[in-house]
Amino acid sequence: MTRIAVVGATGAVGAVMLQCLAERGLDSELTLFASERSAGRVIDGRTVVALNDQADLSGFDIALFSAGASTSKAWAPRFVEAGAVVVDNSSAFRRDPEVPLVVAEVNPHALDAHKGLVANPNCSTMQLMVALAPIQRAAGIERLIVSTYQSVSGTGQKALEALDAEAAASLAGQPAPAPAVYPDTIAFNVIGAAGSFPDGSLDTDEELKMMFETRKILEDDQIGVAVTCVRVPVRVGHSESVNVQTREPLSIERVNELLAAAPGLVLEQVPSPLRSEARDEVFVGRVRDDPTHPRAFSMFVVADNLRKGAATNTVQIAEALISRGLIRSAAHVAS
Ligand code: A2P
Repeated sequence: MTRIAVVGATGAVGAVMLQCLAERGLDSELTLFASERSAGRVIDGRTVVALNDQADLSGFDIALFSAGASTSKAWAPRFVEAGAVVVDNSSAFRRDPEVPLVVAEVNPHALDAHKGLVANPNCSTMQLMVALAPIQRAAGIERLIVSTYQSVSGTGQKALEALDAEAAASLAGQPAPAPAVYPDTIAFNVIGAAGSFPDGSLDTDEELKMMFETRKILEDDQIGVAVTCVRVPVRVGHSESVNVQTREPLSIERVNELLAAAPGLVLEQVPSPLRSEARDEVFVGRVRDDPTHPRAFSMFVVADNLRKGAATNTVQIAEALISRGLIRSAAHVAS
């Protein structure tokens, strides 16, 4: 039995991680961690433990983190020191060249080099990689132009509450409450910049993540990525309009064949976030030639950002760590 710590178990992604762990039947013993605020809360018969200096971090094989980058920076190294492999859903370690950044269907081989920490990609990048990996393998990717339509759950539980409060006020004909999470009202609106602007950057952190993470996961520094990340008033499910320019020519029939054969991907005419909700697959549609370039095509890519974009992939990484013999108890059994 694998001993797993879930850090951030009370959050939007944490709750879905618990669901995924239960659904996928991973033979595990779980301990749930969250902040002091949630200590003592009972979830599925398990009492939530506060992550503080009194917490016992020993004995875990794997720790699944989804509690924000600052919590990961402070606590992930302590779990690693205590012997666990940490799979971190935050941006804290994704840029570290020593830390594998893994999409389960795309580059599980990268796990073999882990040194205790594994990073789960950003949700928007995750779903894009599932669709792009077969294209990259078949023809190489020269350039991407991506526009995202990102749901509110990607920001967390507080953002969902803000969306509900704003929508309720608007439907009741009352003035919108002051924006609580985003720089503008999100209900019945579109915010043309998802994420925040790091010092001096005209790109948001979400956009910078997609540029960097795409190249790291597809193991190709030459891929050009032009991206605009947008927040839309959708509760769950990120959508992306994607234009792909390949290095080698690729017919649209071949693109469709490659996508149809890709693991974890479902081809349909017009995917939608509502229909992607609670599903683990990535949905791809609107696949068509780009009439402005002989080696380019367009597609629309949708996935549940809490599932494949976060929790599902985290749990898939845990499964891959176990099956590849990459956790401490496996090493112990092997020795
Ligand atoms: P809590 O619910 O006790 O605040 P979300 O992304 O939905 O906002 O969820 C964030 C998750 O991270 C929650 O489970 C939250 O716990 C947890 N969290 C936030 N700060 C800390 C911290 N300092 N230590 C441990 N868990 C934290």
